[in-house]
Amino acid sequence: MVLESEALISIFDSAVMLGDTVTESTRTFSHRPFKLEQHIDRLFKSLKVTRIDPGCDAQQMLRITLDVLDANRSCMTQEDDCWLVHNISRGRSIAGADPTIQRSHATVMIFTQPLDLRSWARFYEVGCHAVTAMSRIIPPQSLDARIKNRSRMAYTLAEIEVKLVDPQAQGIILDVNGFVAENKGGNIFAITNGTLRTPRSTNCLEGVSRDTVLELAHQLAIPIAEADLLPYDLYTADELFFTSTPYCILPATKFNGLPVGDGKIGPITRKLLAAWSELVGVDIAAQAIDQLHRAATDY
Ligand SMILES: Cc1ncc(COP(=O)(O)O)c(C=O)c1O
Repeated sequence: MVLESEALISIFDSAVMLGDTVTESTRTFSHRPFKLEQHIDRLFKSLKVTRIDPGCDAQQMLRITLDVLDANRSCMTQEDDCWLVHNISRGRSIAGADPTIQRSHATVMIFTQPLDLRSWARFYEVGCHAVTAMSRIIPPQSLDARIKNRSRMAYTLAEIEVKLVDPQAQGIILDVNGFVAENKGGNIFAITNGTLRTPRSTNCLEGVSRDTVLELAHQLAIPIAEADLLPYDLYTADELFFTSTPYCILPATKFNGLPVGDGKIGPITRKLLAAWSELVGVDIAAQAIDQLHRAATDY
């Protein structure tokens, strides 16, 4: 284990040369990792499909990850949590050479970072503005969205387009057929007439948060469906939200300039957020809002 200032990778690493990296981001609640086994399971699926040999098995990866978290516990304040991030590249790359050959040990990077929730905090109170990007998601025939990888240029360009419309907006990326796919770092849910709908995983990452919402909805007897959703379905939804590891559930109250439902955060979104908070013993929205308030003083 090394300090950030001493952590070095080669300028010839395939992470840098090719963006040839699979990744995972897990968060803690009250300093305990949430669904880490599920994240590591997804990581090993990404490694298998991309044919990167990490040099250890899932059990070893889990143990090392927990060691990294333990080593960094003292960096977390009582009320805050952290990210636990895995970035694994194929290792040394040589310009012009066959990129499919793993020439060295994989570069396995695992780090923690304070979970800064401030940019999302006010959306728990008023909801965010969801805006569709002009660019389309990379089709799964080219890159399966279930491979969680660090080749993020397509997502970044889509988000740039969204921010041109509204600098505070959160992006919604469509697939090449015009169906709703995902956000650059999150999944999308719409609620219409009491049914919770989300895009199928043919065009989005199978988010761990997406799974959690589907589980919670099942427990709360909220009908759920994976569906092909068009922008029309989001315009006419009663409620809309994003899911992702850091913020869990992020309500959206405006879609492409129009109010979603009555323009307020809806009851089912609130119910799911409350159920998730209860599951982890942390008031998810309050934690983010508290960070924002402390920022004004001493954060
Ligand atoms: C493209 C994309 N979609 C969805 C998600 C949400 O996944 P999770 O809930 O596992 O964080 C992420 C997370 O980073 C992502 O990068």
